[in-house]
Amino acid sequence: MCGIIGYVGARPCTNLLYEGLRKLEYRGYDSAGVSVLSGGRIEVVRAVGNMDSLERELKGNGYSGARLGLGHTRWATHGRPSTENAHPHSDCTGEISIVLNGIIENYVQLRESLSADGHEFTSETDAEVVAHLIEKHYDGDLLEAVRLTYGDISGHFAFCAIHSGHPELIAGARKECPLLIGVGEGEAFVASAIPAFLSETREVMVIGDEELFRITPEGAEVMDLQKNVLDREQTRVHWDVDAAEKGGFETFMRKEIYEQPDSLADTIAGRLPDSGGVVLDEMLIGDDVLADIDKVYIVACGTSYHAGMVGRYVLENWANVAVELDIASEFRYREPVLSPSTLVVGISQSGETADTLAAMRQARKLGAKVLAITNIMGSQATRDADGIIYTRAGLEIGVAATKSHIAQIAAIHLLALYLAQVRGTLTAAQIGAIAAELKEIPELLRRYLKHESATHEIAKRYYQQPFFLFLGRGVGLPVCLEGALKLKEISYIPTEAYAAGEMKHGPIALLDKGSPVVVVATDGHVYDKVVSNIEEVRARQAAVIAVATEGNEGIAAYSDDVMFVPRTSEMLSPLISVVPLQLLAYHIAQLKGCNVDQPRNLAKTVTVE
Ligand code: G6P
Repeated sequence: MCGIIGYVGARPCTNLLYEGLRKLEYRGYDSAGVSVLSGGRIEVVRAVGNMDSLERELKGNGYSGARLGLGHTRWATHGRPSTENAHPHSDCTGEISIVLNGIIENYVQLRESLSADGHEFTSETDAEVVAHLIEKHYDGDLLEAVRLTYGDISGHFAFCAIHSGHPELIAGARKECPLLIGVGEGEAFVASAIPAFLSETREVMVIGDEELFRITPEGAEVMDLQKNVLDREQTRVHWDVDAAEKGGFETFMRKEIYEQPDSLADTIAGRLPDSGGVVLDEMLIGDDVLADIDKVYIVACGTSYHAGMVGRYVLENWANVAVELDIASEFRYREPVLSPSTLVVGISQSGETADTLAAMRQARKLGAKVLAITNIMGSQATRDADGIIYTRAGLEIGVAATKSHIAQIAAIHLLALYLAQVRGTLTAAQIGAIAAELKEIPELLRRYLKHESATHEIAKRYYQQPFFLFLGRGVGLPVCLEGALKLKEISYIPTEAYAAGEMKHGPIALLDKGSPVVVVATDGHVYDKVVSNIEEVRARQAAVIAVATEGNEGIAAYSDDVMFVPRTSEMLSPLISVVPLQLLAYHIAQLKGCNVDQPRNLAKTVTVE
């Protein structure tokens, strides 16, 4: 996440940058900062916390002569929220300033080699290497230094740079992370999202993936990586400000569903290096301890609990370790049998859910090692844990969790691979093969999301039904539980979710002619069993809506409707098979006219028991 903005033109820019950052605050608010060219020097003002803190720092310090500057609002990924880690970052001379959104995967190696060459680092961030690389490459041409820097770094990112010797230039580049130019009269903006400059100009120029740009008061140029200027038209946007904050999507939930490929890519970035193995910098629990654990105990609430349930299958399968799972509010009042060789994993998007925190504390008191999987750097869960795996989903605004869930499942996969590595239950080649497949999934998801109109059509056929049953087996079980939760929480339609094999012991009595039954029937070792359960449902004349693997033409014979998802190996399949269920819930709720971003009676973070 993170939001970045730049301005070059004739107007005093400190306030323009500040107002732009206010519009980007939804992208993160761990810290914020601006750098402006004032009196021939680059002045940097940074503050920990949200934009109110930056406003206080800027008071009486407005650099009214500045006409060139950068701004940044941070969602911490590398390095805790602190003033030193806040952007903009500078080179050793203070002549160069940069802001970055994204992750530099090879920053450790780059930092070592730059330090060996005498560069001095002042932060713990990956981003600072960009300022020093530009310094290293700079020879009077800022754009060329940006281009060479781009060639040095790997990962996914968007960055902008200014130099005190170029008072009318911002140069930068983007790879996978968003960056757009706003072109005005004698001025130009660059930002992560259009709302940052929408009140100043509606003329937008897109910077494509793997492209460079330069903006000056005279206008904007977008270039390929050889600096050939590309023929790029400006387009006029007609969004209102509210729509712009949602990136053109009608709701935050839909926007966040579409951000899932990035959420997954960010969460695995740098943790599965091409050289092999699994790297978890914040694990902090020693490999010797992890090699000896005899039980993993997962505790969580809501959607996080469903991610934990995926963990049961994956950890048993890859790391050959016993797994128990409980809802945090139950765990905390039981007498769980734990020992120093139990690893308790608390999963919490917010890191603040009262029941999950209490369960983690209790586990620690009972002598277990505790690992937190959380989306929020510095949250309470990180302080109550011995080790951490951060999900990197960015700020999630919709109350119904979507992109944080995908990131949690990916974190579970990383944990299972890591344990398999230290316990020797998978070979290096097996880990490498799974890692390679995991890295392909963001692209599969992007492809899938382009065809979501099929889900909309299915929603139209069923949205007036009074009840939905969801069935799944194996890793399909947590997926169907999550699909049912999504539907009930945003559309208020009663749902029941069950292990498909258990259906005949009760829920089958609920079925009537035409009752919709959503079945997770992706390919896997229990597929034939799921088909048998579908037959049982059809014998009661219920309507089957199946989630199935692309290429499985045979499923049509057993189903009224099918939502096909790209093929993956079984243990990775929840990363994709949950998405059509999120979309089904979304479209049904929209058709019913519900407020999907703020469903009644729910809260995003539940800090009470
Ligand atoms: C609330 C939210 C859910 C979330 C659950 C657990 O119920 O509405 O979306 O899954 O809390 O929250 P956590 O922050 O601990 O993951």
